[in-house]
Amino acid sequence: MGTDKEIQANSFNKSNDNVPYLIRKCTFEDLENVKEVNERELPEDYPFFFYKSILDNFPDSFLVSCLKDDPMKIIGYIMWRVEKIPSRNGLRLINKGHLVSIAVLDENRRIGIASALMFKSMPEILKQNVNEYVLEVRVSNYAAIALYQNFKFRTEGVKKKYYRDGENAYYMVRKIK
Ligand code: ACO
Ligand code: ZN
Repeated sequence: MGTDKEIQANSFNKSNDNVPYLIRKCTFEDLENVKEVNERELPEDYPFFFYKSILDNFPDSFLVSCLKDDPMKIIGYIMWRVEKIPSRNGLRLINKGHLVSIAVLDENRRIGIASALMFKSMPEILKQNVNEYVLEVRVSNYAAIALYQNFKFRTEGVKKKYYRDGENAYYMVRKIK
């Protein structure tokens, strides 16, 4: 278990007294709680080892949010991975920073937590020399699409029947100059 002191030391915004939440790096002890937030808020569930492998491979961009008065209670998370994909002409590999998943508990929304998670994690994934940030999002997910547009993601295409229930996904990209 991370002690409160360790959690404080790990927190990025400990100097910001204006908000009721903290953003900090995810730890192994958080993974079950992260999984629970995902299961409550998104239809796409992942097995425990999936979270574990993202944490093992991309720990710096795997962030969680908790309330200041209850640092072990996870109210939001964001996780990314880096994917090496051949360029269109197949001559080189492009590094993509793939936003795997973000969610905030329903009762803690619209106070900037998702924005803070994006803002703090994007520079971390950038350190992995990515050429672009990419993600998929349900075409009906207006809240998430608006969030991504705020962070300069643009819709590059539609992935037909991307989700198990048949819904299409927008493929959204933010290029890095
Ligand atoms: N309606 C319209 N716009 C919204 C809404 C909404 N309900 N919620 C957020 N936004 C947009 C707004 O532009 C908002 O800025 P504003 O509040 O200044 O208007 C901006 O997003 C940022 O809002 P935050 O408070 O930072 O976002 P929040 O912490 O509420 O979390 C999230 C947004 C993550 C999309 C949340 O609604 C959620 O967890 N939804 C369920 C899970 C989900 O859909 N995750 C994304 C799946 S796709 C993927 O993971 C790649
Ligand atoms: Zn994806």
